[in-house]
Amino acid sequence: MNQEQQLMAIKQFTIEKLAGDRTGHGMNHINRVVKNAARIANGEGHDPFLPEVAAYLHDTVDEKIVNSVEEAQAEVQSFLRQIGMTDDQIRIVMETIKNISFAHTLEKQQISLSSTAQIVRDADWLDAIGAIGITRAIYYGGAHGEVIYDPKIKPRKKMNKQEYRNLDDETIITHFDEKLLGLKDKLFTPTAKKIAEHRQQVMLDFLNEFHREWDAKS
Ligand code: ADP
Ligand code: NI
Repeated sequence: MNQEQQLMAIKQFTIEKLAGDRTGHGMNHINRVVKNAARIANGEGHDPFLPEVAAYLHDTVDEKIVNSVEEAQAEVQSFLRQIGMTDDQIRIVMETIKNISFAHTLEKQQISLSSTAQIVRDADWLDAIGAIGITRAIYYGGAHGEVIYDPKIKPRKKMNKQEYRNLDDETIITHFDEKLLGLKDKLFTPTAKKIAEHRQQVMLDFLNEFHREWDAKS
């Protein structure tokens, strides 16, 4: 298989895993992350192939989505071998999809990421900010029974992974302060940072308007 055929096979594998997803990780999220990854790789003068492969697969081993993370990882790994990817390529892709979640950044022990992993994490995080980010947060919050906003609930800035997982009084609006507004400064690549500037402003404008309307000032 050439690289184009490998990418098609990987896309098909991902469709089988994520097509039914209703948590904001369906194929439209994946397709945007793949496009962002290619855009960032090209902007950084990096070969887009491995970033695209890892972008397709990045949510197929997520603990929120699969029952067994280990089994899901083993399945992806043997699939990549089947379609003829090399050991080095497989190592980079597996390392990427294991280590780029936001929850990982809350762990004390930080792992250093390869250039491919940095590109894919930036591509995934760009999809959590801006107009798409606003929509996904509202969609997720609604699906999880969160209230829209409660001024009594103050955003918690410093959380460890366990606390982040167990938040039970999160509101859609505090999620912006606790996570989304901070993503821009944790991006790795200059290309993603540039794209994030406008998206950040879109969120800030939205929040400003939200609070004005909440207080009946707008
Ligand atoms: P990731 O894409 O890194 O796996 P998540 O699965 O945690 O991130 O989140 C998927 C989407 O839902 C993201 O856009 C995220 O900002 C949003 N989201 C996650 N947790 C919450 C929450 N508690 N309230 C509102 N939105 C959330
Ligand atoms: Ni994702």
